[in-house]
Amino acid sequence: MKLAPSILAADFCILGQQVKQVQDAGAQILHVDVMDGTFVPSISFGFPIIASLRKQTDMMFDVHLMITEPERYVERFAKAGADLITVHVEACKNVHRTLRRIRQTGCKVGIALHPQTPIQNVYPYLELVDQVTVMTVNTGFGGQQYIEECTEKIIELRNEIDYRRLPIDIEVDGGVKLDNAEMILDAGATVLVAGSAIFKDDIHQNVTNFLTKLKKYEDKV
Ligand code: DX5
Ligand code: ZN
Repeated sequence: MKLAPSILAADFCILGQQVKQVQDAGAQILHVDVMDGTFVPSISFGFPIIASLRKQTDMMFDVHLMITEPERYVERFAKAGADLITVHVEACKNVHRTLRRIRQTGCKVGIALHPQTPIQNVYPYLELVDQVTVMTVNTGFGGQQYIEECTEKIIELRNEIDYRRLPIDIEVDGGVKLDNAEMILDAGATVLVAGSAIFKDDIHQNVTNFLTKLKKYEDKV
């Protein structure tokens, strides 16, 4: 069970300091949301930010590409410092080829899907990935409410992965808070992305609260 704070909700003026805070509090993964203004309406940031952060921390960079035809850029994101590159099943011209190309960079491979996309759409690719990211808010914006209907998708995916005995993480991204974390873990998630729940008020305390929750959950199951 892991926590992946999403820097989308960080204060970019003091991004380095805030990343240091989440790291010092014990988070091991940094979720990095890249948006191109085409695949999703927002534009976030790209290579220079990732490369700068890479010099500062050895946290695992989980790079979530919300960009059209991501195949064009996988090598550059790997070079900038990504450890895991996730592409959207809806964004690729050729999903197999894109996933293979990520693998060739040496990065771990992830696939994501919108809340509206049936979970079965990623089943053909489960053998090729290390992680599936189930979006639980409308892709492209932080600070939204968790879409309850998505819980069923997490459960179905968990069943499919267990049935095939695959060592894949299920990452849940969007609207994750302390008070729904347990329900999401119960559904079968292994990685929780949290943006607005981490980067407000006391960042160190927020991370500690999540990690304590995850630890308690692990001890229970
Ligand atoms: C949304 C991004 C998320 C976002 C989550 O498209 O992929 O990673 O930062 O933010 P919260 O946790 O605020 O819903
Ligand atoms: Zn994300």
